[in-house]
Amino acid sequence: MEESKNKNEEIKQDYQPVHTNKVGGSPFTGVLGWLDNRLPIFRMFKYEYLDFQVPKNLNYLWSLGGILMLCLIMLIVTGLALGMHYKPSATEAFDSVEKIMRDVSGGWLLRYMHINFASFFFIAVYIHIFRSLYYGSYKEPREVMWIIGIIIFFLMMATAFLGYTLPWGQMSYWGATVITNLFSAIPLVGETIVVWLWGDYSVGDSTLNRFYVLHWLIAFGILGMVIFHVIALHIVGSNNPSGIEPKDTRDTVSFAPYTTSKDLVAMLMFILVFVVMLFYAPNYLGHPDNYIPADPLVTPAHIVPEWYFLPFYAILRAVPDKLLGVIAMVASIGILALLPWLDRSKVRSSVFRPVWKQCVFLFVFDFFLLMYVGGMPAEGAYILLGRVGTIYWFAFFLIIAPLVSLTEKPLPMPDSIHEFEEWKKQGKIKTFTFGSGK
Ligand code: HEM
Repeated sequence: MEESKNKNEEIKQDYQPVHTNKVGGSPFTGVLGWLDNRLPIFRMFKYEYLDFQVPKNLNYLWSLGGILMLCLIMLIVTGLALGMHYKPSATEAFDSVEKIMRDVSGGWLLRYMHINFASFFFIAVYIHIFRSLYYGSYKEPREVMWIIGIIIFFLMMATAFLGYTLPWGQMSYWGATVITNLFSAIPLVGETIVVWLWGDYSVGDSTLNRFYVLHWLIAFGILGMVIFHVIALHIVGSNNPSGIEPKDTRDTVSFAPYTTSKDLVAMLMFILVFVVMLFYAPNYLGHPDNYIPADPLVTPAHIVPEWYFLPFYAILRAVPDKLLGVIAMVASIGILALLPWLDRSKVRSSVFRPVWKQCVFLFVFDFFLLMYVGGMPAEGAYILLGRVGTIYWFAFFLIIAPLVSLTEKPLPMPDSIHEFEEWKKQGKIKTFTFGSGK
């Protein structure tokens, strides 16, 4: 008796009760409830996408996240269909793309959709990043979301670069040659790495084959990172134009139907612009030389990357040394990851930061300046412009962000989002509305 009592005491001390069977707790009944109790995806959808509270004053710039999702899904779907007809070999790739354009039923539409969704994906992501910069969405507690975003951006660039080699036109071939050659700038092992990347002694059949595989793989890598991005979002919640966290239900609305319907309107507007481009100027953003089959013996007069790479291409060329140029190009994006710590201001939104706001606008101007320079030959005044643009780019992060955040005097701020909206109505806050505050 005494012995079993001791044993029970011992068990109490050493072991904790466990609940490995967590069946139950579903807000649904019937078949849905039965299933949800065993696989809780329906309740997750309800809590995270229907009832989820978001700030009531989000403007249309917050619809870009959903638009980006749309682009990603469309790229994967059209890519899948293209992949069924495409041949990743140096002798067949160009012709297989022409076959898609001329012989495959609806092939031209699939290809033009894929190309233009890639461009619109970048347009959307640049606006999405601008929104985060302007409203200070990168600040605590959204640092991880921001960093995941930068990883996504790197992956987007890798996928787009790899995809551009696939049609095996002149720009595909020479673009791949220029960019892969950048690795040769790495001291000691550079040349070996380049040969390893090519799988040959020049860009060729093996290179195309592996680029095709990686183009697919990284596209799904983006999808995986987007899932993390959204999981993080549902922990920290959305920022908003005021930069003030919601306090009670006067400050929020539920995701459905308010945000969903607004996002739908934004998506339709986006699709409207997209289809105009798709049907009336599908090649406008591309380079005509890519309709010439790849020829290793003829170098195009100007090798230029796709438009969305131009600002970074300009930074690469602004530095006279090859290795330092490559480092500057990679660092120009990587440096964004440090922004949450470089910008020390406690105030998130630029609406209350008059100096920082101007610096952000100047940064946007700088982005377009570098884009213009990146598309021009590296000579004369373009070299100077490229260097000035590059200096501002880095100064924005390393000097302006810390300095302005420590010295700037923010404007008076309301205590809550609903007060922010009141102040806006009373004209005490001057900012663009862009579909917010309803
Ligand atoms: C495939 C690309 C991407 C997808 C699908 C995506 C998706 C989303 C979605 C659905 C949201 C919530 C809605 C919104 O605030 O717009 C969001 C928010 C956010 N994203 Fe992205 N994103 C992508 C790329 C990026 C990149 C490249 C960055 C930054 C470099 C970034 C930074 C952020 C930040 C900081 C937020 C929080 C914004 C806030 O609450 O104010 N995202 N993203």
